[in-house]
Amino acid sequence: MEMKIALLAGDGIGPEVMAQAVKVVDAVAKKFGHNISYTEGKVGATAIDHTGLPYPEETHQVCLDADAILFGAIGDPKYDNDPKAKVRPEQGLLLMRKMLGLFSNVRPTFTFPSLLHKSPLKRERIEGTDLVFLRELTGGIYFGEPRGRNEQGTVAFDTCVYSVEEIERLARMGFDFAMKRRKHLTCVDKANVLATSRLWRETVQRLAPEYPEVTVEYEFVDAVAMRLVQWPKAYDVLITENLFGDILTDEASVISGSMGLMPSASLGTVNKLFEPIHGSYPQAAGKDIANPLAMVLSAAMMFEYAFGMQDEADAISDAVNSSLEHGVVTEDISEGGKAYKTSEVGDWLATKVLAKEPAQ
Ligand code: IPM
Ligand code: MN
Repeated sequence: MEMKIALLAGDGIGPEVMAQAVKVVDAVAKKFGHNISYTEGKVGATAIDHTGLPYPEETHQVCLDADAILFGAIGDPKYDNDPKAKVRPEQGLLLMRKMLGLFSNVRPTFTFPSLLHKSPLKRERIEGTDLVFLRELTGGIYFGEPRGRNEQGTVAFDTCVYSVEEIERLARMGFDFAMKRRKHLTCVDKANVLATSRLWRETVQRLAPEYPEVTVEYEFVDAVAMRLVQWPKAYDVLITENLFGDILTDEASVISGSMGLMPSASLGTVNKLFEPIHGSYPQAAGKDIANPLAMVLSAAMMFEYAFGMQDEADAISDAVNSSLEHGVVTEDISEGGKAYKTSEVGDWLATKVLAKEPAQ
């Protein structure tokens, strides 16, 4: 099959981890006989430096023309320390989500058998955790108007807005995910306080009879924050609004032991984008030490969700599991053992994918 992939490496460690994902994708293409072409686009601080804009029109065109988008990371400390900066790298990410209609951010949390001891949580609590968040990504307080300050600058405000349509499309995707998994859906909200949350709950309740096999639970966001670390195995599919999802998915990511491990997919109306959930880790940029696994696993999600190619996705996840078992890992998880370079892990994974016996 012919596939056109947009590569938006972004800032910090983005380009380094992206290079490893490309090696692995190339290996998959060779192994399974696909024809893949890449087009690069600038985004984030790198794009601001070159064009003055965090998500230039050129990059948007690259995304529109591609069958799927791989995204590295965004963010540069030189903007973080300047609260008055007019353009910020993060605006690029938000604009891109909106312009590409990426309304659902799929963030799985699972554990790797060989890394259970790395988690800050006790083994018996986390072993076998397998949950997925669907975070609404183009609405809520991230985008609601009005936002800003009063004339004196002494009062600031943001607005959380949700329409039934926005909630319904995300909720339906949640029900569909649940049907393909353990048929359990949790609607995470703050319906005891927020009007938007009450609309979320009402909408999910209205849809539930259409999915009689799915058990639906409604839970307040504060309780979920607690139960996620007490007993993450309670969850299968969780749906929630933009801000709650942002916070809870960072919390959930530590269950697996390292932020450098978890991939994500952003699905929507125009295209599909795949990115690690970690940030740009500027302290490590250019040092060839960052963990490329979340980026590589994001490429696996691309094969699954953008191209419906489960074998290709599995070939990548199997190679990743194997690298962990063989201790071919970067310094964040090497624990006194040999710390491999980012590029060495990428080479090892690509070789592993190529060496894999074809499935019978
Ligand atoms: C994320 C990030 C972004 C968000 C930032 C960089 C705007 O934290 O992808 O989770 O808050 O959505
Ligand atoms: Mn976040």
